[in-house]
Amino acid sequence: MKTVVINGANGYVASHFISNLLKQKYKVVALVRTNKRSPQERMKKVLADINDGENVEYPNLKVIGYSLCDEDFSIPRDELKRIFRGNVDYFHFAASLKYDKKSVDEIFSTNINGVENSIKVFSNYATPGSRFFYIGTAYSCGRLDGIFEEKFYENKDISAFRNYYEQSKRFAENIIKVNIQKNGLNGHIVRLSQVAGNQKTGITKTDYGIFDFAKRMFSLANRYPNEIIRVHVDPDSSQNLIPIDTVTAHLTKMVEETGIPEIMNFVAKKSIRNSHIIETLNRLLPINIIPQKKLERRDMNAIERLISVGMSFTESYIETDLSFDTSQRDKFIHYVETGPSNNSVSKMLEYFIESLSKKRKKQEPAAA
Ligand SMILES: NC(=O)c1ccc[n+]([C@@H]2O[C@H](COP(=O)([O-])OP(=O)(O)OC[C@H]3O[C@@H](n4cnc5c(N)ncnc54)[C@H](OP(=O)(O)O)[C@@H]3O)[C@@H](O)[C@H]2O)c1
Repeated sequence: MKTVVINGANGYVASHFISNLLKQKYKVVALVRTNKRSPQERMKKVLADINDGENVEYPNLKVIGYSLCDEDFSIPRDELKRIFRGNVDYFHFAASLKYDKKSVDEIFSTNINGVENSIKVFSNYATPGSRFFYIGTAYSCGRLDGIFEEKFYENKDISAFRNYYEQSKRFAENIIKVNIQKNGLNGHIVRLSQVAGNQKTGITKTDYGIFDFAKRMFSLANRYPNEIIRVHVDPDSSQNLIPIDTVTAHLTKMVEETGIPEIMNFVAKKSIRNSHIIETLNRLLPINIIPQKKLERRDMNAIERLISVGMSFTESYIETDLSFDTSQRDKFIHYVETGPSNNSVSKMLEYFIESLSKKRKKQEPAAA
């Protein structure tokens, strides 16, 4: 079986992909950085979490510590030669998902220098048939009017984007473009929209995007139960969500097949309206959230202002109604995927809120 090498392997999307690959008996090399725990412990923990807390032994998984921006990832040359022996599929997942101005150095060094270095390591060690897959974001469209096509777009000033994260991901795509065109990199780009939970089971292990919003509303409902809160959200705009099980299935298909398009948008055909998300949260939480398209900070009460400050990231996506071309993806996937239904998004939110409640209950006796 082919070897799949994955960086940022302990992250939300990568770890679910790895869990799926291991079930299909692929050999996986997981590149994970060290924090207080070793890379091996970190990977084991995240895989156990995906598998309901069960510690499974994975003979086909090798976990290696690395440093994204260092020469040769700070991995000994012999080890790198072993990792890249034969044709491998290499997936670059590692990214800083921060977005604000004060984190700009970290965002750019991880999302731009990290990609440059990743290409360098891949180009130095991988054999000619190996493939480089970059995980991008559909939000690198920035403030584009019209349809975001599956093609390269030029680098733009920050004013063309909602935040530095989007800009850095656009810049990274263009680094890949140059390497494909000038250096013959066998490179592909997959752009994801907001990755949600599992659409069948509702299990949701991410607190990104709408789940970040849900987390804020949960904590608010606990602090100020039964409060009526206006939030700056356009109820008629929508969120493009793609379930994690769809993402992992699509990515696994890429490993299985040849003739992959250069760029694909992995997005849902049908977006979920903000009003549905808020109605679900109002049902699940002791709170009454009222979405308002026009709500100035000066007209907010103290609690509403507090939420608004915390929502600075989510807030830049509350009026979005983005359109994505998926013709390349549709040629490759061959079946129409419509994304999660309203029902499955409700199920995900239920699971997510229940997990937060359980966590809170566990912490309560300790705090008492
Ligand atoms: N989640 C989404 O909705 C979404 C949507 C569109 C695109 N994407 C893209 O999908 C990819 C994975 O996202 P995710 O949601 O799975 O994110 P995640 O859970 O935050 O994982 C990010 C991974 O990148 C690693 N990383 C961050 N900074 C690093 C650095 N300086 N050096 C080495 N590794 C570093 C993290 O390692 P540590 O754990 O050590 O920090 C982690 O393994 C990213 O490229 C993201 O842009 C995600």
